[in-house]
Amino acid sequence: MRVSSSVFASCCLIFELFGLALFLRGFFPVPVKSSFSSKSKLSDLPAEPLAGNGPNASKVPPPLFKRVVIVLIDALREDFVFGPNGAKYMPYTRHLVERGSTHSFVAKARAPTVTMPRIKALTTGSIPGFIDVVMNLNSPALYEDNLLWQAKTAGKRIIFYGDDTWVRLFPKHFLEYDGTTSFFVSDYTEVDNNVTRHLDSTLKRDDWDMLILHYLGLDHIGHISGPHSSLVGPKLLEMDDVLKKIHAALISRETEGSLPNLLVLCGDHGMSETGSHGGSSEPEINTPLVLISPAFKRKVGMEKPSVVEQVDLAPTLLLSLGLPISQNSVGRLIAPVFEETTLREQLRYLHLNGHQLSCLLRDSTVEYQKDTPTTRATNEEEVATL
Ligand SMILES: *[C@@H]1O[C@H](CO)[C@@H](O)[C@H](O)[C@H]1NC(C)=O
Ligand SMILES: *[C@@H]1O[C@H](CO)[C@@H](O)[C@H](O)[C@H]1NC(C)=O
Ligand SMILES: [Zn+2]
Repeated sequence: MRVSSSVFASCCLIFELFGLALFLRGFFPVPVKSSFSSKSKLSDLPAEPLAGNGPNASKVPPPLFKRVVIVLIDALREDFVFGPNGAKYMPYTRHLVERGSTHSFVAKARAPTVTMPRIKALTTGSIPGFIDVVMNLNSPALYEDNLLWQAKTAGKRIIFYGDDTWVRLFPKHFLEYDGTTSFFVSDYTEVDNNVTRHLDSTLKRDDWDMLILHYLGLDHIGHISGPHSSLVGPKLLEMDDVLKKIHAALISRETEGSLPNLLVLCGDHGMSETGSHGGSSEPEINTPLVLISPAFKRKVGMEKPSVVEQVDLAPTLLLSLGLPISQNSVGRLIAPVFEETTLREQLRYLHLNGHQLSCLLRDSTVEYQKDTPTTRATNEEEVATL
């Protein structure tokens, strides 16, 4: 009797451990990552099929944009731009969305909807899991292939103002930076003024290629008093003014014959009805993504923004700047951005995206089997006998 009860107890224990292991495996999935921790290089890109070995066959099509300004507003919910709040408090942005040369999307962020993993998703195109939250509370530098590394390596000069998480993730990437601390959640004025105070002088300068701004005020308002607080309206109006200022400056400095500039408005995650974030409810994962550039055709009225993934931004920005897609990106190109290019170039963009994804699949799964030459030969034989 004693023996069988201890056997029963150990069976229970083993079963429990098995259950725990299964839970952990599901909660912390193995991230899709290339097993080679290198970076994508322009020289490694595949040649265009059927183009022979010409000098241009393995090139990325030329860049579409000269300068890029990314305005990231922390906890910007999709309805703060596309909903009634947007119409009321972001009039300039809404005007651009409805009638300007823009492409608008709802970009889905994945849980955990916390700032640091979302910055990683936006810059690397990969999807960090919960394990990243646990392991990176002190956010050490990001060594994975990413947008900023690629841009800096290609000689682009990057300026950053805003949440100092970026400064910790990208310690050597910025020509100039000013990090604001998100430690004092009760402050929603100074964190944003510390970013905006640099704008006038920076927008007049010609010595940068990429400007990134990360505004924290809206997120802090959410944590203090939620998305329906009376503080949200004035904050959105302030952000709208910032966008107007940047857009006007980009247009006024555009010169005849040079490439157009691109202004990107995005959020890292949304905010729930109580003003918090971290989970995967609709208001937390739906963020707006507005791409503004004279390179795009003008709109004639508001369309319902289509849905993309947040990770799609990284490959889209990289290829549109003439850079290779970062190695661990799982994003797909946002096709409308490329619709003004030639058909051949569009095909080439898709080719590069598909090739990068298949390399990632090959490097991250052991069982991956490439279409082997033998099967191809039999296919050819089949074709020959037909
Ligand atoms: C290669 O590209 C350059 C500039 O983009 C162009 O002038 C040249 O004609 C191209 N060569 C071929 C073989 O397509
Ligand atoms: C804003 O800038 C001032 C002066 O540089 C600094 O003392 C202050 O801590 C900054 N505030 C935040 C929230 O980062
Ligand atoms: Zn955030």
